Amino acid sequence: MDLVEKESAEELFHAQAHIWNHIFGFINSMSLRCAVQLGIPDIVHNHHQPITLSELVMKLAIPNTKTACLFRLMRLLVHSGFFTIRNEGYVLTPSSTLLLKDNTMSVSPFLEAVLNPILVTPSYFLSTWFHGDGLTSFDAMHGRTFWDYAGHDIELNNNFNKAMASDSRLVMSVVVTECKGVFDGLRSLVDVGGGTGTAAKTIAETFPTMNCTVFDLPHVVGTLNGNENLTYIAGDMFESIPHANAILLKAREWILHDWNDEQCIKILKGCKEAIYSGDEEGNPRKVIIIDIVVDDRNVEHKSTETQLLFDMLLMTILTGRERTEKEWEKLFLESGFSHYKITPILGLRSLIEVYP
Ligand SMILES: C[S@@+](CC[C@H](N)C(=O)[O-])C[C@H]1O[C@@H](n2cnc3c(N)ncnc32)[C@H](O)[C@@H]1O
Repeated sequence: MDLVEKESAEELFHAQAHIWNHIFGFINSMSLRCAVQLGIPDIVHNHHQPITLSELVMKLAIPNTKTACLFRLMRLLVHSGFFTIRNEGYVLTPSSTLLLKDNTMSVSPFLEAVLNPILVTPSYFLSTWFHGDGLTSFDAMHGRTFWDYAGHDIELNNNFNKAMASDSRLVMSVVVTECKGVFDGLRSLVDVGGGTGTAAKTIAETFPTMNCTVFDLPHVVGTLNGNENLTYIAGDMFESIPHANAILLKAREWILHDWNDEQCIKILKGCKEAIYSGDEEGNPRKVIIIDIVVDDRNVEHKSTETQLLFDMLLMTILTGRERTEKEWEKLFLESGFSHYKITPILGLRSLIEVYP
């Protein structure tokens, strides 16, 4: 009662609406997942003109009794910017174009991987996990790490690798055009935790005289074959990293962000050793990191919110975290590097060059 006297009704309802918006946040994710699983972006795309609700019902082959429900799903997705309405029909927006299955940069595999119940369910147990001592809520619930789980679950592993690959296509298409200078003078590069090699393939194709290596766990690269300037090596980055002029650590948002500070310093020290050994010809040496730099001064910004949500996902699933520039700097200096340069041109992520 006291509260009502002190605050205006407007403030109270604003607070209530704020809470409701957060309670319902998961419905945004699940509605988008539903649309992708039904194949709605592809149906709208293949229609080649605005598609009406009844045409969409027909193409989806769902019962007519579901028409009003489909309208409600589409109304939310129009509101959140995934479709727009033109001439009384639905059309794609840039966001839903990025969800098309045949788009080589599709974000759909990432959506499938992150919204897989195996990854979502540990969020229910976060508060319990805070009281316990498991490494992550994922580990506490599934009894093993995410990487171990992915190594044994073929579908999750495939979706995850597909998600990494399409993200790499998207990011690397910009890196090798807009940030070409980063690779100047490099004769060799190892993509550490490079997944199935999409990023390294783009680099190898763009710079045919550079020897590129993809280094990842045996269940990821064990059966893959390279070509003249692309090699796959299976191993553990905590043990040793193959030698090269440069090491690439690209995160889908994630290599270093997957790991805690102690683990990152171990990986970075391994990288420093790898860029120092083997090549005495005075070629440039550096570690190239593609990862999130949290802009925590920009509290109102939607991108910062997305970075912080990603950080919570990492806390729930892995032992990693998103870092501010200050936190990155501390990691680099503690690993023995002398300076770094951040180029924030990759949307939510930045390109960071780290020098010995
Ligand atoms: C988030 S993925 C990033 C893949 C790729 N760099 C990209 O951005 O698309 C992290 C990768 O690190 C690999 N990884 C995890 N632990 C590793 C280890 N100990 N040694 C080498 N690779 C590892 C995983 O198999 C996975 O492919």
